[in-house]
Amino acid sequence: MALVALASAKGSPGVTTASLVLGALWPRQVLLAECDPSGSDVAIRMTAPGGQPLNSDRGLVSLAAASRKGLGDEVILAHSQQLDGGLDVMLGVRAPEQVGGMGGLWSPLGLTFNQMQSADVLADCGRIGASSPQLPVIQAARLVVLVCTATGSSVAHLRERLSTLIHHVDARLGVMVVADPKRRDGVKQVWSVLDAMSVQIQHRWHLAYDPVGAAFFDGRGHGRLDRTALIRTAGDIAGEMAALVASPMQHEFDMAQAAFPEGQIGYSPDGQMGYGSEGPGSPSEWEGRR
Ligand SMILES: Nc1ncnc2c1ncn2[C@@H]1O[C@H](COP(=O)(O)OP(=O)(O)O)[C@@H](O)[C@H]1O
Ligand SMILES: [Mg+2]
Repeated sequence: MALVALASAKGSPGVTTASLVLGALWPRQVLLAECDPSGSDVAIRMTAPGGQPLNSDRGLVSLAAASRKGLGDEVILAHSQQLDGGLDVMLGVRAPEQVGGMGGLWSPLGLTFNQMQSADVLADCGRIGASSPQLPVIQAARLVVLVCTATGSSVAHLRERLSTLIHHVDARLGVMVVADPKRRDGVKQVWSVLDAMSVQIQHRWHLAYDPVGAAFFDGRGHGRLDRTALIRTAGDIAGEMAALVASPMQHEFDMAQAAFPEGQIGYSPDGQMGYGSEGPGSPSEWEGRR
């Protein structure tokens, strides 16, 4: 199945909340993996079935110790646990100091997440930069979604981060703006900033800024979660993302073959997203399949 990585450029636009709500609504079996090196929020905000506390000793750190014997679905699931409501989660580190003890786990972890047999994986990667330890998880993902708000500074940092990230990431890229459902103008402004960039962002989503809905993922919810704008918008987004990563791009490859006769699919010599605005996948994938 597939790994989808969510991250932010700066600030706290709502990556963890978005990961939780998308995970809750994902149309297939899914594991939420907290890969934010700044420390787990899920362990603090959420509970196990019956309102019991989550086991904070079971997660990335315990997995790091066990992974010396190899990684695979069974090991990953043995270090995961269930949230109240049923979502499977792998808790992240408790504190940034624990990241040092994870050694070279990030790269094999990303590859394993992207190849799990039993579930898709949504990785909450927190803030990401070119020297972030969790970058290999982003690099292994089939879809990378950067989350921002519709404020000038959030978008400015997103732009800057995208222009760097594009040199490190081969995956499909998407942007999710967290904004008041009534503020469509603000969201449009974000899209026009992205349109003006040389980096092509093929996938764009607007998740509702909705404090009532978000409170449910902060351990403070009251009332009917299913009626919130957050859930309504997230349901569609989860469906679209899951469909995007469902098959290993075979379908798109066939379409591209039909559209471009053999030998005409090109990309820039530097190998960076240079095959045109509709070109899915990565240069190496095209190479491998031709
Ligand atoms: N879609 C949203 N609507 C309203 N509030 C939100 C939303 N997403 C996050 N928040 C709130 O913003 C704060 C930070 O959210 P969080 O998901 O932890 O951000 P991040 O993971 O980017 O640091 C939390 O108090 C959360 O409830
Ligand atoms: Mg977070």
